Amino acid sequence: MPIAQKISTVHPSGDKRFRMLAATMKRYQYAPDALIEVLHQAQELFGYLEEDLLLYIAHSLKLPPSQVYGVATFYHFFSLKQKGAHTCVVCMGTACYVKGAANLLATLEQQHQIKAGETTSDGQLSLVTARCLGACGIAPAVVFDGNVEGHQTSESVIRRVEECLYHGS
Ligand code: FES
Repeated sequence: MPIAQKISTVHPSGDKRFRMLAATMKRYQYAPDALIEVLHQAQELFGYLEEDLLLYIAHSLKLPPSQVYGVATFYHFFSLKQKGAHTCVVCMGTACYVKGAANLLATLEQQHQIKAGETTSDGQLSLVTARCLGACGIAPAVVFDGNVEGHQTSESVIRRVEECLYHGS
């Protein structure tokens, strides 16, 4: 693999979601026609697609950013903006589902009076679901404001979301 490409998969923020996304791109051998799959994975990890993320994908897949933006804006299932101040992504993939992800989601929906895909009326919390975060070994996995955490329970998701809302992490 060329050095330039290797460097491009390491995001300077150190956010491990970028590493997980890089693993997906590697699995597709950085093929440009894997763009839609990569965007799906990115949205599942991050909850939405922000500019920095789209540029990172464009650079990694060696595609013009305009093409990546074009695809991301064309399909209604991609969301370009974070809606709530905080985002909680509950993985509903098979491994997480069999370990009780549906309960976690129901707990959060009830606690915050929103459904998956919605944002609380005060704009503080967006609740999102994913098909697989690529962290099946720690199922059920949930992303709280960018932190992927495993082995979640109803109690822990309530506590972690409150920490995000009231303490910002
Ligand atoms: S199914 Fe949840 S991380 Fe893979």
